[in-house]
Amino acid sequence: MALQSPIPALRIDADRLMGRLMDLASISPIEGGGNSRLALTDDDAAGRDLVVGWMKDLNLDVIVDVVGNVVGTWNVGHGSPVMTGSHIDTVRTGGKYDGNLGVLAGLEVIQAVQESGHIPSRPISVAFFTNEEGARFAPDMFGSLVYVGGLSVEEALDTVGIDGARVADELERIGYNGATPCPGVSPSSFVELHIEQGPVLEQIGVSIGAVTGVQGISWQELTIEGQSNHAGTTPMSMRCDPAYVASSIAVFVRNLANRYGGNQVGTVGKIDLFPNLINVVPAKAVMTVDVRNTDESLLAQAESEIATFIAQIAEAEGVRISSRTLARFEPVEFDSELIDLVESLAKQHGHSVHRMPSGAGHDAQMLARVCPTSMIFVPSVNGISHNPAEHTSAQDIANGANILLHTILALAEKKDF
Ligand code: GLV
Ligand code: MN
Ligand code: MN
Repeated sequence: MALQSPIPALRIDADRLMGRLMDLASISPIEGGGNSRLALTDDDAAGRDLVVGWMKDLNLDVIVDVVGNVVGTWNVGHGSPVMTGSHIDTVRTGGKYDGNLGVLAGLEVIQAVQESGHIPSRPISVAFFTNEEGARFAPDMFGSLVYVGGLSVEEALDTVGIDGARVADELERIGYNGATPCPGVSPSSFVELHIEQGPVLEQIGVSIGAVTGVQGISWQELTIEGQSNHAGTTPMSMRCDPAYVASSIAVFVRNLANRYGGNQVGTVGKIDLFPNLINVVPAKAVMTVDVRNTDESLLAQAESEIATFIAQIAEAEGVRISSRTLARFEPVEFDSELIDLVESLAKQHGHSVHRMPSGAGHDAQMLARVCPTSMIFVPSVNGISHNPAEHTSAQDIANGANILLHTILALAEKKDF
């Protein structure tokens, strides 16, 4: 029989959820209404403390693992928990909702069920995973990757960030170097509510996304070394210019994505030039390339074309280019039963629903390695995210949280995991 919620009339308290979202957003606010809580900074620590306090208020059993992932569990019923959650770190210029919504909606679901008097048949856990963004420490989905055993604890703790800080030192400094080992307990299922972060739902006028999977991600860092020289005296024919090469690579990546079409995207988000002065041909450029596709073979083809171009331009300009992989994850497909569940609950609750892959990376794609997993999307105004202007309406947030509530309740009654 198809999965059902045992108490379909129950609703979350939308005002309480919005209140917690705004309280969390009041930590590390930035101009334009967003947040800057890079992973394992003091700002992240303040956000963590606030959310852990809320977990304790709900009488959850709170564990902190060796890479700082935090899991709060309402220990009712039997068996392995149904888990929800996301992340509370942000990019340096982040919004209020990316990640935070999934964590705080999870807390709201537990509180609403606790207040209803209903006792689920399985425990319910809410997690926030360390450094999902990958903006300070690569790769992204860092904590959830370690949680599922995809990256060793030793390697994770030794990771050095963009500012030279080491994960182990930062965990200790902020007091989140927990004792619970990784890999962590495998949940019976995982479901994550998240803002879409793209324009699709808004453009088609649909309020719930039933997420079918996450596209593959390839991140690399390129270091380009040339010949620093005088901008006025060096003939163009004698230049070995890392800035020219970096910008040519950026243009190549952009044209490649346009040429492939479909789901192919390509981004150069970071270029650092040294010494970065107006009248000096730079000695060095360090840049990043982010390419993604839902199709693994197309993603691999894109990587190979970029590598060929890099070799050609290095030769032509007389520069040395070395590359370092920062993240490489194949596309992930979510569990069909859970996707169906999200879709049917959305319909039952009177919402329009659209099946779609995720363009952004999410902790759910890591949890999908160990248990049936799916995600719920709600619309992003103007498709804007990783930007302080990121916004989702209170109504859409409430709709998504209610679908999360009933998805979790239905999964908590599922016996055959
Ligand atoms: C991480 O959230 C990403 O998709 O870049
Ligand atoms: Mn996110
Ligand atoms: Mn993000």
